[in-house]
Amino acid sequence: MNYIGVDLGTSAVKLLLMTGEGEILKIVSKEYPVYFPKNGWSEQSPIDWYEKTLEGIKELVDATDDRTVAGISVAGQMHGLVVLDENDEVIRNAILWNDGRSQPQSDWLNSEISKRKLTEYTGNISYAGFTAPKILWMKENEPDKFARIRKIMLPKDYVTYKLTGAFATDPSDASGTLYYDVKNRCWSKEMCDILGITVDMLPRVYESYEKVGELKSEISELLGISGTTIMSAGAGDNAGAAIGMGITGEGSCNISLGTSGTVFISSDTFTEDFNNSLHSFAHADGAYHVMGCILSAASCNKWWMDEVLESSDYAGEGDKIDESKFGQNRVYFLPYLMGERSPINDTDARGAFIGMSPDTSRADMTQAIFEGVSYALKDCLMAAENMGINVSESCVCGGGAKSEKWLKILSNILGIRLNTTENTEGPSFGAAILAAVACGQYKDVEEACDKLIKINRSVEPDPELVKLYADRYDEYSKLYPALKDAYKFVASRRN
Ligand code: XUL
Repeated sequence: MNYIGVDLGTSAVKLLLMTGEGEILKIVSKEYPVYFPKNGWSEQSPIDWYEKTLEGIKELVDATDDRTVAGISVAGQMHGLVVLDENDEVIRNAILWNDGRSQPQSDWLNSEISKRKLTEYTGNISYAGFTAPKILWMKENEPDKFARIRKIMLPKDYVTYKLTGAFATDPSDASGTLYYDVKNRCWSKEMCDILGITVDMLPRVYESYEKVGELKSEISELLGISGTTIMSAGAGDNAGAAIGMGITGEGSCNISLGTSGTVFISSDTFTEDFNNSLHSFAHADGAYHVMGCILSAASCNKWWMDEVLESSDYAGEGDKIDESKFGQNRVYFLPYLMGERSPINDTDARGAFIGMSPDTSRADMTQAIFEGVSYALKDCLMAAENMGINVSESCVCGGGAKSEKWLKILSNILGIRLNTTENTEGPSFGAAILAAVACGQYKDVEEACDKLIKINRSVEPDPELVKLYADRYDEYSKLYPALKDAYKFVASRRN
């Protein structure tokens, strides 16, 4: 049997075709634009997502012998607000996970409703990236459009809805809305009342590996698919990536170096971060996880390569870094291109290079990018440590994980072993696994992961470099507090 796993990302949709035995037959990727209508805002067109996903599915189906696809599932960028009217038309572009416009609404939720109540209702406090403050932003700033809302969904759920007609979501993605009660795995009536929406505007919640519907017959016909194709609920991209890397059960960790960067730690039970630095979310295996999310990770490198160096040779630029300079770089980079979520929660923060001198080289600055992102991920790992969670090794996936130099830097800054798997596709592989479980190919997610995922390589930290980097991390940690007021001042002059 064939399965398709879809990763509905921010820069592109990536799709893979997998056999029931986990062999990957073909991978395709289709890009679409991100719009930044104002500084700190970010939007995409849900129609682009759907059309590019259809194109990708078509190419994968064309690569099969018998044109059958037993199951499809989508792992998608989380938190984005997609709103449809009574004719199922998209009312406005989706407001994305890394859009900071709803900081005032998020502050209002945290202060007026209170962090205590939000945590009681949902398991989390508010962040501007979450969906709930985006709904409040629309209510205050676009009341006519807000009044037309009949359905509210997350990015991947729009694609599933268009493909099947099933209005569905899953607990891992619903967790990032702030109107979902994570612990009890149901919508929060209290939060819906606060936001001025009703539960019937929200999708039905299925577990990630449960069937939600079948591909519409006209779509199967259009794509030339024979037989029936079922779709499962899918997952948020980080939970999907975790499944694709085999991260289930108690205390396993996956780090994603994608557009965003995440530290994802799976857990059998619901756990709260009383410091509110990490998110307490549901996992796609039926259990839970805690997660720290930095808003710009591999996207910092993309920005540096595309906009500043004007180089498409990402690997070549990385190779210029001299390993004898590991742990000795005098240049620091703060990776806050889109503001920051975990743990500083500051939408005013922006990227910064600090410490250049006349002898600073291009390679030193590329190294500073890799290091700055790694220090920010260490901030998340420290937040987990403060919760009593000690991580001694982690899997790593995402575009940034293709760089050997970056992996070495990350391993030494975090002081832990990093593992990669044979297949580093992450979310799309995880989504294909969820589809296979929904079709009964595997008993459950755990069994599928045990059979399909193998660690193929580990990067070990070097004790000497770990020491050097610990000192550098101390210095790095002083920089954001020193700049915080300056960021606020600059932002206040721009608004
Ligand atoms: C997680 C988050 C990001 C997006 C990126 O909370 O906001 O990782 O899911 O796709």
